[in-house]
Amino acid sequence: MLERTRPEIESRVVVDRLGRTLHDLRISVIDRCNFRCPYCMPEEDYPEHHQFFRAEERLSFDEIIRVTRLFAGLGVRKIRITGGEPLLRKNLPTLVRELSAIQSLDDIALTTNGILLGAQAEALRAAGLERVTVSLDSLDDEVFSSMSGGRGDKTRVLEGISAAIAAGLTPVKINVVVQKGQNDHTVLDLLEHFRGSGVIVRLIEYMDVGNRNHWRADQVVPSRDLLAAIHARWPMRAVNENYPGEVARRYLYEDGQGEIGFISSVTEPFCRDCTRARLSTNGELYTCLFASRGTDLLGPMRAGASDEELLRLIGDVWSGRVDRYSEERDPGAAEAHVLHKVEMYQVGG
Ligand code: GTP
Ligand code: 5AD
Ligand code: SF4
Ligand code: SF4
Repeated sequence: MLERTRPEIESRVVVDRLGRTLHDLRISVIDRCNFRCPYCMPEEDYPEHHQFFRAEERLSFDEIIRVTRLFAGLGVRKIRITGGEPLLRKNLPTLVRELSAIQSLDDIALTTNGILLGAQAEALRAAGLERVTVSLDSLDDEVFSSMSGGRGDKTRVLEGISAAIAAGLTPVKINVVVQKGQNDHTVLDLLEHFRGSGVIVRLIEYMDVGNRNHWRADQVVPSRDLLAAIHARWPMRAVNENYPGEVARRYLYEDGQGEIGFISSVTEPFCRDCTRARLSTNGELYTCLFASRGTDLLGPMRAGASDEELLRLIGDVWSGRVDRYSEERDPGAAEAHVLHKVEMYQVGG
């Protein structure tokens, strides 16, 4: 049996039924959020008194570290800390410090809405976090407010971004969920703001994740349309991916003012290269963002499962995996709307 105290778990490779290996682990450290973006956690479904997981139902830091070591033994090299809003989890730098002590990891990043970033950027960097991605849908005050469910504060998000740059959490990336009729008319202004700053803006097609956002296909702005509009203003050139399976398609401004990316899961799905596993706040393993169910790891862990047993469980889930939701999606199909899917804030996108 592998000892829990061993620094690294013996390495083995798992391959799923479509030939995909494991490379990324996305860890949701809390399901709460201080925003109520209508495309993720609409206020009417998640009022102030909504019951999220209680502290004891969440994976503890020790449990997260244990699971991460196991995943590292199965090939994971990249960790993304997510939520809900991960900076709401107390003492997050402590977790980051412990994660960064796992030697086989190449990259530890975090996705945040940025509101609490100004206060925490330095401590996170000092703990070993390498970079952050900040969600920011518009720089227009009214649009920003409606897309964050009236909870956010654009100025504080921008301060958070500056603090992240100052702390060296770079390259900072910005995630923009583009929704037709909501913020698509403000995309060029947002790009203009960040051109030349080193910040990489990524434009994300609005996705049909979860069951609460009342997604409709006609609310999606295809990336190719956005690219045409951007190219007409600032000529762009495509560049190769940084690593196999990168989610964003990368483009550079021809005038040297930096990079942007397109995440086009609706019009150009990328399931073929999907090497991402997701760990929910309550310790369930999901192999697809659009999955109906996860596999409980917390229960077995708290019941005393050994590392070897957990490795077998995780390995079996991954090797049995056939997920390719975005490639199969048929927005018109009735079942697409009734199928129960995990919510984005539970598995962190
Ligand atoms: P880098 O590590 O910087 O390349 O970023 P990333 O793409 O891993 O990170 P990020 O969390 O910023 O992902 C951006 C968005 O892409 C997510 O919020 C999701 O909306 C979407 N996304 C990421 N992974 C997947 C995936 O496996 N499937 C689908 N459909 N969308 C994904
Ligand atoms: N479609 C696309 N992206 C989404 N995100 C949340 N919900 C959706 C959706 N329905 C993005 C957020 C954040 C990341 C975690 O996921 O903007 O950047
Ligand atoms: Fe919160 Fe992010 Fe969901 Fe918005 S998209 S409600 S910031 S978890
Ligand atoms: Fe992976 Fe599922 Fe996204 Fe396809 S839809 S890329 S299988 S997470």
